[in-house]
Amino acid sequence: MQIIAHRGAKGYVSENTIAAFRKALEMGADGIELDVHLSSDGQIMVFHDEHTDRLTGVSGTVKDMACDDLQKLKVDLHHEIPTLAKVLDFVDKRCLVNIELKVEAAARPVTQLIEKYVSEGWNYDHFLVSSFDWTALQEIRNRNPKIPLGVLTETDLDLAIGFAKSINAETLHPYFHLLDEASVKKIKAENLRLYVWTVNEPEDISRIENFGIDGIITDFPDRA
Ligand code: G3P
Ligand code: CA
Repeated sequence: MQIIAHRGAKGYVSENTIAAFRKALEMGADGIELDVHLSSDGQIMVFHDEHTDRLTGVSGTVKDMACDDLQKLKVDLHHEIPTLAKVLDFVDKRCLVNIELKVEAAARPVTQLIEKYVSEGWNYDHFLVSSFDWTALQEIRNRNPKIPLGVLTETDLDLAIGFAKSINAETLHPYFHLLDEASVKKIKAENLRLYVWTVNEPEDISRIENFGIDGIITDFPDRA
């Protein structure tokens, strides 16, 4: 089972920052999960929210701000908002990078960035692109059949399984409360790998691990 550090080791360090990804690697995580939006000048920014308020204390909307201006803000007073390229350079092929697209507009630039890194020696298997926005996943699949895709859902497992099969996705990423033994069996019968989020409490981690899942996305990689 792969242990994926949610937004970096979010349970310990400010989310989606280089420090959080460093912590995840130090804890031996097999992968990191991160969220991406686009800045007004088209840079791929690693940031969870549509707005800057919660994480930086400054009002703003990521898509309306240029990369330089976003990088003048500080997450929790001292971390820069990284670009996806900066995170990939930091990771340097040391673990899986699960890129969650928060906006459909990121599908094309993320595809192009992955292709650039693959041309420089990364493997497609270093990447897993997931989204609740299935149109974005469909667009990536149309652009490149080799990029591993993960279908996120917090509601309808059957619909997600059907869509995942239709785009030849690698993984299904359900909210962990959706799962029981029967649903896990069904997902496995469809030959989909199962990555489950966001599982943090020790009793939930044990219960979910016993289902025989393939990946666990957690704020606390050391607990898993
Ligand atoms: O990728 C799974 C999980 O990260 C989805 O929820 O809100 O933490 O991005 P959220
Ligand atoms: Ca996420």
